[in-house]
Amino acid sequence: MTSPTPAANQHTTEPSTGRQLDGKTALVTGGSSGIGLAAAQRLAAEGAHVFLTGRNQENIDAAVASIGSSATGIRADVSNLADLTVVAKAIEAHGRGLDVIFANAGGGEFTPLGQITTEEFSARFLVNVGGTLFTVQTMLPLLNPGASIVLTGSTAAYNATPAFSIYAATKAAIRSFGRTWAAELITRGIRVNTVIPGPVETPGLTGLAPAGQGQALLDGEAAKVPMGRIGRPNELAAAVLFLASDQSSFITGTELIVDGGLTDLKIPSQLADAPQ
Ligand SMILES: NC(=O)c1ccc[n+]([C@@H]2O[C@H](COP(=O)([O-])OP(=O)(O)OC[C@H]3O[C@@H](n4cnc5c(N)ncnc54)[C@H](OP(=O)(O)O)[C@@H]3O)[C@@H](O)[C@H]2O)c1
Repeated sequence: MTSPTPAANQHTTEPSTGRQLDGKTALVTGGSSGIGLAAAQRLAAEGAHVFLTGRNQENIDAAVASIGSSATGIRADVSNLADLTVVAKAIEAHGRGLDVIFANAGGGEFTPLGQITTEEFSARFLVNVGGTLFTVQTMLPLLNPGASIVLTGSTAAYNATPAFSIYAATKAAIRSFGRTWAAELITRGIRVNTVIPGPVETPGLTGLAPAGQGQALLDGEAAKVPMGRIGRPNELAAAVLFLASDQSSFITGTELIVDGGLTDLKIPSQLADAPQ
């Protein structure tokens, strides 16, 4: 038997410190709040220098302060190509290329069919779909061999939620991007996967509720989840770290559902409640 040869994407040349992303550079869009913030903190704790973005400068500053010198915050709208170019130039100036993209910025709103305007349709697709596309495309020249791209989908693309059709459709597009880009980038040794959050307690989720009804929304979401609760941002961050690191070195073009069993489990109590 021959001795094992290094895998094609084992590109780390530095001595191991036990941290999974030492010497790596990561970009987290929407890293100033919620899932993105938790992921930025986790990737930095594992040794990466993290570039994080958002539109609100105050939130960016607070996010960077929570991480320290291994974070750089840049105010950038993912739907604006000029902003994305500024981010790319800052990463280029850092001088180590880019090893991880967590293309996470996005959001949604409830609008019933019958009330959807062309403006809402265009704006939501521009941020969630266009923002993901142009983030990845703008950063493409910077990516090191062995890089990992993680996209943010949603269980909304699997399950029907009334009045959420535009958001769900944007996240269905993300699922498709993940597979196609994985195929396109495979010869560069770049992996692409999509993390699929169920309901996670973030400002983005509570912001879907009318003022004062955030807790009621969280309770309602928790009641639908087989595990009986909604997710925590750090539970998504753990999944992002797995997909971003060499721990997932043989995984590409797939989806990691992090939803407490919401999508796949039909537990007896749910079946009993279901119409026969
Ligand atoms: N929380 C959930 O239950 C859940 C479930 C499934 C999927 N997701 C997805 O997870 C991702 C993160 O959501 P979250 O719940 O963590 O929401 P959040 O707390 O509202 O965070 C969203 C982040 O994205 C940024 N962002 C929004 N629009 C942007 C834009 N045009 N350009 C740049 N940054 C932008 C926000 O900063 P600014 O507002 O300052 O720009 C913020 O940093 C989203 O893609 C969301 O669709 C969330």
